Amino acid sequence: MSGIQIIGMGHAVPSVCVTNTDLKKVMETSEEWIRTRTGIRERRFCGEGESLVTLAVRASEEAIASSGVRKEKICLVITATVTPDYQVPSTSCLVQEKLRLPSGIPAFDINAACSGFVYGLSLVQALLPENGFALLIGAEQLSRMMDFSDRSTAVLFGDGAAAAVLQKKAGVAFYSHLAADGNRNALWAESAPANRLPAWKNAVPQAEEGETAGGEPEDTGKYKIHMDGRAVFRFAVRALSEELRELEKQSGIAAEEIDQIVCHQANQRILDYVRKERGLPEEKFYRNLDRYGNTSGASIPLALYDLWSAGKMGPGTRIFCIGFGAGLTWAGACLTF
Ligand code: ACO
Repeated sequence: MSGIQIIGMGHAVPSVCVTNTDLKKVMETSEEWIRTRTGIRERRFCGEGESLVTLAVRASEEAIASSGVRKEKICLVITATVTPDYQVPSTSCLVQEKLRLPSGIPAFDINAACSGFVYGLSLVQALLPENGFALLIGAEQLSRMMDFSDRSTAVLFGDGAAAAVLQKKAGVAFYSHLAADGNRNALWAESAPANRLPAWKNAVPQAEEGETAGGEPEDTGKYKIHMDGRAVFRFAVRALSEELRELEKQSGIAAEEIDQIVCHQANQRILDYVRKERGLPEEKFYRNLDRYGNTSGASIPLALYDLWSAGKMGPGTRIFCIGFGAGLTWAGACLTF
């Protein structure tokens, strides 16, 4: 059996730190409501000169340096994101260009929302040749999709990025499972206008009789995140619980024996619900959502980065990663070290 293994990690959190108390300045909320209902205390937003690509590049540079692998050896780049700077080229191609990664290697982005990094692990396992090295990035600038007049979503999200260098090696165990159940209503944001306007009609607005250029001002709210919080909560606890059982079945490792369970950092109450249901100790479920909020595709790699930089991914360590989010999507992976 050959499996992928993390051999280097990096992260980039943006400069602007916004506390729950800061949010009170722009919406009707309280520090206590946000903390007790979500577990979040603060989040980071991109500031001057920062964007998704600058975060992805910073995280990737650190990951490559910490792996000790020369850039010329990277043979695959994948970025999990729902908030790319550009429609084309992909974030992965932009990182490839900025970091002068080798030409002629596959580089592309995936959209599986908060399950994106775990989907990416599975793709790396499938595409990476034996002994090859891949760069897998999770990066989000969700602040560009947030509606600060909607207090039920605006308190939840943050920006950030983290990256891993992975190697495929003989004798390494790796297990994964990916899933989706298409549902537009639970969690959605329409794509930017450039994608949705009928281009030909826009180019010749007077082409059809009775039509004029311009018209009603557009409702830009539809480009922001909309969520049925209670429906997503119910989905999340079910997906997390099922995925935990799936990983236990595939890997033959019981949740009680696994070193860490690194879940998508959406809401402390989701993690607590499943932890209590299974009677597992608090330390088993890594958490950093108090500092970053929900960073979608970046949340699992940001949590893995914390463990990596604290020296908690030594030989023999085994970690379950579980993502769930818009799509609806959910996914699990078992990493071994
Ligand atoms: N501050 C103060 N009060 C608020 C706020 C706020 N920021 N937001 C909502 N409220 C109020 C509501 O108006 C409501 O008031 P009412 O009873 O007078 O009508 C009350 O608080 C309760 O609202 P609910 O929506 O029922 O609150 P709930 O306990 O369900 O918590 C939350 C809302 C935190 C969004 C919760 O449903 C949740 O966590 N859902 C899952 C969200 C999630 O995890 N999403 C991400 C997963 S997918 C992804 O990451 C993209």
